[in-house]
Amino acid sequence: MLLEDNVLRSDWVVACKREDVKEEPLQVTILGERVVLFRNEEGIHAFKDLCIHRGAALSLGCVKDGNLVCPYHGWEYNSAGTCTKIPQLPEGRAIPLKAKAIKYTCKEAYGFVWINLNNNNPKFFSYPEYRDDNFRNVLWGPQEVNANPPRIVENFLDVSHLSFIHEGFLGVQEHPVIGDYDVHMEEDRIFSDEIAIFQPDPDGTGQSKDVFYTYEVIRPLTVRFTKRDPDTENKMTILLTILPIAECKSIAYGILSFNYETGTTDQEIVEFQDMIFAQDKPIVENQKPEDLPLDLQVELSLKCDRMSIAYRQYLTKLGVTLGTV
Ligand code: FES
Ligand code: CO
Repeated sequence: MLLEDNVLRSDWVVACKREDVKEEPLQVTILGERVVLFRNEEGIHAFKDLCIHRGAALSLGCVKDGNLVCPYHGWEYNSAGTCTKIPQLPEGRAIPLKAKAIKYTCKEAYGFVWINLNNNNPKFFSYPEYRDDNFRNVLWGPQEVNANPPRIVENFLDVSHLSFIHEGFLGVQEHPVIGDYDVHMEEDRIFSDEIAIFQPDPDGTGQSKDVFYTYEVIRPLTVRFTKRDPDTENKMTILLTILPIAECKSIAYGILSFNYETGTTDQEIVEFQDMIFAQDKPIVENQKPEDLPLDLQVELSLKCDRMSIAYRQYLTKLGVTLGTV
């Protein structure tokens, strides 16, 4: 099962937006585990949301002088997770060495906070658009979804649903056929050729035409595509990354990156993406089996599903066992 697996715990998983971590501690559930995030002068820190004294949730406490204070009896923990104060201890008594919070590695990148539960500090993925001055980046999410995280990822990589689920926006039913494409696998990334997709109005001029999508799997729960307009060289990239809360509970986040002037505000961009996502949501929330089947015999794939198949193969290779196989 996904939740028992070490693959995601050994990876960087998105926790929240960077701006969500303010003065007050914040609780985030990652792979069924409650994590508390807090900010002090040194930056953002992540602990298991559990006080070793009586198991209170540290996220119900507060930050005082840079220390996280447990709400129940006021024990204080510094950035390293070491307990620096136990109010009930008589004068002169040493704080027990075991009085520690369990600390997780976390980092701020691309506008989000990422957590590495196993503290193995793996290599972080690259998203060049975020650091490129030619791109405008808009953060998207959180969007809660009652679905298995890889089902949501696969929906994002699903090339042939655009003309149905997103009819009139990202495709038209008269053009359901997907051009031939290959998928290429490199060491730890897989990506498609450019795929021609007919869209009713890709650039807002009212003119329907083919645009080109390139899909890429970066991490088990982090994927992207770039849409290129062949006439203008306008590019839009969307990075999708999923916070896996539980087997069938996820939060989707994203970054939308544009190398051109969209003529819309950040809020309008987010609202459009919300609307598109709302079209996908009932599909992924009702797919059976809930877990993405990695056995390629379980569902019936077409040639145009090659990107989805490649994602399943990638997960299999990573050793993620997702249940119904
Ligand atoms: Fe945290 Fe007692 S439970 S101080
Ligand atoms: Co969709």
